[in-house]
Amino acid sequence: MYLTVIAAALADSSVRTLSQQEELPLLRDHLLRLDRASRRDRFHGFMDDSFIERYAEKCANDGTTIIAFFENGVVRGAAELHPPDQSPDSLPEIAFSVEASVRRRGVGSILFRKLIAVARTKGYKSLRITTGAQNEAMRALASKFGAQLVFRHGESTGTIDLTKYDQAELAMSWIESVLNATRAALAFNRAYRRMLLRMAGTAPSEWGAS
Ligand SMILES: CC(C)(COP(=O)(O)OP(=O)(O)OC[C@H]1O[C@@H](n2cnc3c(N)ncnc32)[C@H](O)[C@@H]1OP(=O)(O)O)[C@@H](O)C(=O)NCCC(=O)NCCS
Repeated sequence: MYLTVIAAALADSSVRTLSQQEELPLLRDHLLRLDRASRRDRFHGFMDDSFIERYAEKCANDGTTIIAFFENGVVRGAAELHPPDQSPDSLPEIAFSVEASVRRRGVGSILFRKLIAVARTKGYKSLRITTGAQNEAMRALASKFGAQLVFRHGESTGTIDLTKYDQAELAMSWIESVLNATRAALAFNRAYRRMLLRMAGTAPSEWGAS
């Protein structure tokens, strides 16, 4: 049963690190699809297209690793792992973006786990995340992965200790995340089918209670 569910999930979605050639077009197009509020949250206020285009170009050329969540061949979420030499205290910075259409289905969590696994293979011991003080979603996601966020200069900043994670735990948690995302997607599909049936005037009893 679980294998069937995982297979269904993987049939149209996948998570992988982008090659350097893919980074510029795929990251740029994903970030350009973010709505205004998401751009504000992601870039701390910088929202125009030309800024995003320059930002994607910089990531493609400065050694940033991008882990992407694909749905039906389109990048709908990205985790960024910036090289340590870009920060004054040599801590690699991380950042996340998930398009509104696939939020709260565990995509951010799947990307976070994959990013931790990639960062560990690079030998990093800790990571830093910075987000807006009002960004409840990112604060919840970062806290889930052990970030102790402190409020400073209008931002929340925290570090994540990678020495606490082992590979087996990450692998099991990843499967759990995929299942959660799949359950959420299936629940959404059932609700959508029920709504269509109701609109068509067909009794929904054959679809069951959930
Ligand atoms: C932050 C963001 C990446 C989260 O992505 P997501 O795919 O929705 O995250 P998940 O579904 O994995 O949720 C992770 C946890 O955060 C919680 N969460 C998600 N959105 C939330 C919200 N709006 N308010 C409170 N909690 C929220 C979830 O309940 C979940 O916790 P749980 O597993 O204990 O239930 C996404 O909202 C986003 O891209 N926002 C815009 C860009 C941004 O703010 N980036 C951060 C700057 S670094």
